Amino acid sequence: MRTLSSRTETFTESVIRKMTRISNQYGAVNLSQGFPDFDPPTELTDRLSQVAKEGPHQYAVTWGAQNFREAVAAKYEHFSGVPIDPNAELVVTCGSTEAMMSAMMSVANPSDRVAVFSPFYENYGADAILSGAEPVYIPLVPPDFHFDPDRLEAAFQDGAKALILCNPSNPCGKVFTYDELKVIADLAIKYDAYVITDEVYEHIVYEPNKHIYLSSLPGMRERTIVCNSLSKTYSITGWRLGYVIASPEICDRVKKVHDFLTVGAPAPLQEAAVTALKFGDEYYKELQAHYTHMKKVFLDGLDQIGLRYTEPQGAYYVLVDVSEFGVKDDNAFCEWLAREVGVGAVPGSSFFRENINNYIRLHFAKKDETLHAALDNLSRIRSKAGTADGV
Ligand SMILES: Cc1ncc(COP(=O)(O)O)c(C=O)c1O
Repeated sequence: MRTLSSRTETFTESVIRKMTRISNQYGAVNLSQGFPDFDPPTELTDRLSQVAKEGPHQYAVTWGAQNFREAVAAKYEHFSGVPIDPNAELVVTCGSTEAMMSAMMSVANPSDRVAVFSPFYENYGADAILSGAEPVYIPLVPPDFHFDPDRLEAAFQDGAKALILCNPSNPCGKVFTYDELKVIADLAIKYDAYVITDEVYEHIVYEPNKHIYLSSLPGMRERTIVCNSLSKTYSITGWRLGYVIASPEICDRVKKVHDFLTVGAPAPLQEAAVTALKFGDEYYKELQAHYTHMKKVFLDGLDQIGLRYTEPQGAYYVLVDVSEFGVKDDNAFCEWLAREVGVGAVPGSSFFRENINNYIRLHFAKKDETLHAALDNLSRIRSKAGTADGV
């Protein structure tokens, strides 16, 4: 048989999905793959039932149904203060995943450099490989995940055409401050670079931190390519609704890539989701309160067990420091954790480009009972330690 594509030859199974498979195999409480185990808002699911009867059931306009685009644009302006034209500056995609891929394909030529903060969400590696871009990593240094502006400037000096900015960040929970965003903006303008933002956790931010939209900084609107989705904000990761917001010139390109990749996002789900996009401020306050509660339940539990972690400012993940177990191989450690302790986690090394393997990532977008079950299992971690490979 002829060989398959060299471009995809180096792809490995997603570590996150692998850990989900392993968790299921051992019946562990799965805190690896980041999705909620609670229901989306009832108004949204009620509207979906209605749409199931009434339609639409055929293709929407390829770059998104008019009413959905208008609702996204209005919500985006409400929160960011940046007005956008829903006809020229918005493309609806199948989740932020497709938004990122379409953005990268639209920006990068093979061998173009793209700067990425590390630790990073694992899809960015695949986005770079598929678009042919060469990633250049800028460390976010634990435990506070600061970055060195000189390292970022050096990446731009070396020709990085774009920066990928995940804010709030998965996996480390960093929420970039205004001053940090200003450094990024000034450098992007100085070196005429784009910034591709992934803002799927824009509404999951813990007091006193605030999410600031990079596109709202002076000079950034035309060079920011916003990728976002409804997955996390409305607890509908399976609906696959996302979007790109960018200048008309960039959107024109993204529309074409998107058209050939997927044709369009699901029409009935766009129609139903307009209901959610029109929720008032109260919804977002409740969402924030709910996540603040889940974070407290989980982190209080970790404190009681005596596990150390870096406290997230946003998103719904926590990096737990497992150095005390003398971990040599965090992949083997996570497998052991699922098998012997009964908790599914993601090895930190899958997010860091640097040689860091003393963290595991757990997520807390779960019902209280699920979090308590996980904490109960974790409370036995020390009595089980010593039975592990590499522990
Ligand atoms: C940072 C980040 N971006 C994108 C996604 C995927 O988003 P979507 O469901 O919109 O494709 C995730 C999912 O965990 C994520 O953590």
